[in-house]
Amino acid sequence: MLSTNNNWWKKEIFYQIYPASFKDSNNDGIGDIRGIIQELPKIHTLGITTIWLSPVYQSPMVDNGYDISDYKAINPMFGTMKDLDELIQKAKDLNIKIIMDLVLNHTSNQHYWFQDAIKNPNSPYRNFYIFKEGKNNLPPNNWRSNFGKGSSWTLVPGENNLYYHHVFSKQQPDLNWENKELRFALYDMINWWLKKGIAGFRIDAITFIKKDQDFASITPDGNDGLGKVKRKAENRPGINVFLNELNEHTFKPANAVTIGEASGVQYDQLDKFIGKKGYFSMIFDFHYADIDVRSGSEWYHQTNWTVQELNEAIIKSQLAIQKYGWGANFLENHDQPRSINKYIKDPAYRNKVGAKALATLFFFLRGCPFIYQGQELGVQNAQRTSIKQFNDISSPDNYYRAIEEGFSAKEALKFVNDRSRDNARLPYPWSNEINDGFNTGHKTWIGLGKHNPQINWHTEDKDETSILNFYRAMIQIRQTSSLNDDLLNGDFIPIKNSTSSVITYQRGQHAQVFVNLSSQAKQIQLPLGKVLLNNYSDLKSEELLPYQAVLIEVKNHG
Ligand code: NOJ
Repeated sequence: MLSTNNNWWKKEIFYQIYPASFKDSNNDGIGDIRGIIQELPKIHTLGITTIWLSPVYQSPMVDNGYDISDYKAINPMFGTMKDLDELIQKAKDLNIKIIMDLVLNHTSNQHYWFQDAIKNPNSPYRNFYIFKEGKNNLPPNNWRSNFGKGSSWTLVPGENNLYYHHVFSKQQPDLNWENKELRFALYDMINWWLKKGIAGFRIDAITFIKKDQDFASITPDGNDGLGKVKRKAENRPGINVFLNELNEHTFKPANAVTIGEASGVQYDQLDKFIGKKGYFSMIFDFHYADIDVRSGSEWYHQTNWTVQELNEAIIKSQLAIQKYGWGANFLENHDQPRSINKYIKDPAYRNKVGAKALATLFFFLRGCPFIYQGQELGVQNAQRTSIKQFNDISSPDNYYRAIEEGFSAKEALKFVNDRSRDNARLPYPWSNEINDGFNTGHKTWIGLGKHNPQINWHTEDKDETSILNFYRAMIQIRQTSSLNDDLLNGDFIPIKNSTSSVITYQRGQHAQVFVNLSSQAKQIQLPLGKVLLNNYSDLKSEELLPYQAVLIEVKNHG
């Protein structure tokens, strides 16, 4: 049992590790748990307090671990259960907690539940998944899978009219949450993990567990005659019963921290999700993370967003979350492109200045900051020249779908380069040595990608002006400075200003943040006070330089 204080997690600073690309200790080209153990002391110097570990479970890795074939086993490519126990212990010695990724909407098609279910109609696991008869030689309905292309139904091997359902890839069959036996098997598994001494979970795709039970076709929304599966399977009526039960039997008794990947939740539903009696401690809000595309799963729908829209989206999100609960603020994760490329429109500022401006913008919002590995160094997207060079399962789907929608191959490749999840998944640059210090050998599971040689842990660690040291400073300010109380507990209050490209907000009584997200200097009246953070070496009282960002401590501001 963790602390008895219900909201102990509010002070946490989360750091997400994508194990395959963090540190390869045995030189086989794939990052591993021993690599994480090895680098823990370095990560500790950042000041982060909780590590979110992307999946390390047994998996055929079709969706890089989000396709689990055994919930209670570790994928040998990442190490052993003993290694994981050691990581939990070593992290604890440094006062760092570990949270695991929890995938409850689906398993791998290699899970023995699914294997048994498809081999044997009388299998006890048959009702753990969703099977339906097709209609007129077609799948049961016209739902399109979430990865952007093709039906969300696949024929059961050896059958000619029996299909199983999958919101994601066909190797990720959906679990049947309507079945109580399945639900309680999952709760047992969750409690087994909690007993190991982890602090909680990031919960994958959790709003997909309830499907409309009519399984009816919908009006098509693409040239393929299909409609997005999320219209019938994302945050649908009735999901509250499952989420409540899940919480009551697992997270709540353990006082665990939980962060739901809960797409499709409207702001007026937040009370149920993160309110006093909510299902989760926090949920990720994707409204502004996906500002560059019309929907996170359709990369060809690029938008021409403005800073003003981003500002409005942040304000709306913060105010809505503040009304009911606590936020989980992020710029990046393993599904998103690198934030510098996404949010810094002028390529000339995709540098230290731009990276620090973004960092300042997100880090002091009300809620817990989540830092994704490499973000603290300012790692950027990598360009690929052919669709064949991508590893991420959703990249070809998005590429071919864009072509189906009438875009040229060149345009389709641009969409994928801008949005591919590979961008975030390249090996962590530890140094300027071979393979960026990720290992010492000749191979890496995914191509490294060209990048600025100054962007690596070793170089930045020693450079006072580096992005890495800026992150250290931000963490220290949030945790221990004179602004600590305002930044942790203070309300989020938007501050109006007369420009459309400067984002400004206040936290509590004394903290004010100003971020110019444009490549022009902007006239703006700044308050008197102590400048705690500045991404330039000086500051004028009535002007912000291009992409200048500051945190100011003002006295007795009402
Ligand atoms: C969301 C995860 O973050 C993503 O990486 C994965 O592909 C899908 N859920 C399916 O599990």
